[in-house]
Amino acid sequence: MSCPYEHGADDVPDIPFPDAFRFDPGPRWAHLRDEAPLTRVRTPAGDVVWLVTRYDDVRTVLTDPRFSRAGTVAPGAPRVAVSSPLPGTLPTTDPPEHTRLRRLVSAAFAYRRVETYRPWIRELAGQLADGLAADGSPADLRAALALPLPIRVICRLLGVPYEDRDRFREWTELAYSMVPAEADRVHAAMAALTDYLAGLVAAKRADPGDDILSELAADPAGLSPGELTAFGLNLLVAGHETSANQITGFVAALLRDPALWDRLVAEPALVGTAVEELLRHTRLSETGQLRVAVKDVPLAGGTVRAGDGVMAAIAAANRDPRAFDRPDEIVLDREPGRHLAFGVGPHFCLGAHLARVELQEALTALTSRYPGLRLAVPADDLRWRRVLVSGVDALPVRW
Ligand code: HEM
Repeated sequence: MSCPYEHGADDVPDIPFPDAFRFDPGPRWAHLRDEAPLTRVRTPAGDVVWLVTRYDDVRTVLTDPRFSRAGTVAPGAPRVAVSSPLPGTLPTTDPPEHTRLRRLVSAAFAYRRVETYRPWIRELAGQLADGLAADGSPADLRAALALPLPIRVICRLLGVPYEDRDRFREWTELAYSMVPAEADRVHAAMAALTDYLAGLVAAKRADPGDDILSELAADPAGLSPGELTAFGLNLLVAGHETSANQITGFVAALLRDPALWDRLVAEPALVGTAVEELLRHTRLSETGQLRVAVKDVPLAGGTVRAGDGVMAAIAAANRDPRAFDRPDEIVLDREPGRHLAFGVGPHFCLGAHLARVELQEALTALTSRYPGLRLAVPADDLRWRRVLVSGVDALPVRW
């Protein structure tokens, strides 16, 4: 296979695929996995890259050092979206630079540390779930709980004032835009977000608070001010829209088949495996994670050339029958451990345990308070947000 870079090759389909913004992936992924496990697609930014969809190939792209994240910010690199990733950050460096950065920040998000946050995350989830009732049935679960929960959590952890949420929400929304015509607005939003974080980091250096940014700023051997600003920006962007979409996606998936909701109500101890299964089953992003090959690599029956972009379609891998029995079914007590929802390898999601705690506590708060919860509109009428990290726009529920 040859290098896929030329623009305008019109046989190349665009991603996200037209059937991306709905619950079920449709037959396309199965077709790609079976017939075209290495295929060319055009990103929203207009660049042509390879897409892999089989579980083993996705794993390879995420773990093999011949597929580089630093390469995604090199001059002329293929782009996924309108916003340019920040160089020199966790998602855009390779080992050993990536290892240095990751070592400096990993303690703040380690399992045991995150478990110390669980009591107040539980309390917050409970308060927000109670607030849903205050709005009266039906209500929008995204606005009442799914969005405010992770925003409050990440604000408190980073020491970002919650009152500023409308400003940084607007900027982070634009960061996920897939509309080339919005390029100027996207760049302006990223610049505003960087200025905002730089100001916050400077304030925390001068007057530290009880939060992760202050803690990292106080480490003399730690991140430089620029690195800390970029890290804060990454966390603010990566740390709430993801969880918010997954909370709405999980509840919607359970309510589409109310027997699943009823089972979780009856067996609350299943919440741990249920969250893992829903992470596997619920698509967060259709486009997948981009890497750039640093040398020619045989992959999925073809060859990826040095410099080619390769996308690992995590969501497609998580539904691969080669890796999962009855992959399209939601089995709340499925043996966990193999899904790739948080990635795998050096770039494994830094916030994975935090996200797990948010998701577990959100489901527990809702199932314990609203055993009779149901969708207030037909599942097919839910509208999907057409952005990179996707989910439903609103989740009307009744009880
Ligand atoms: C359900 C929610 C979430 C999902 C499904 C998710 C998914 C992912 C995935 C798939 C990656 C790996 C990307 C790759 O290999 O290219 C990743 C990386 C990352 N995530 Fe998450 N994430 C979630 C929540 C969070 C939260 C809450 C935070 C922050 C507090 C966070 C921070 C990060 C960071 C900083 C990275 C980059 C890690 C690195 O490159 O070393 N994520 N996430």
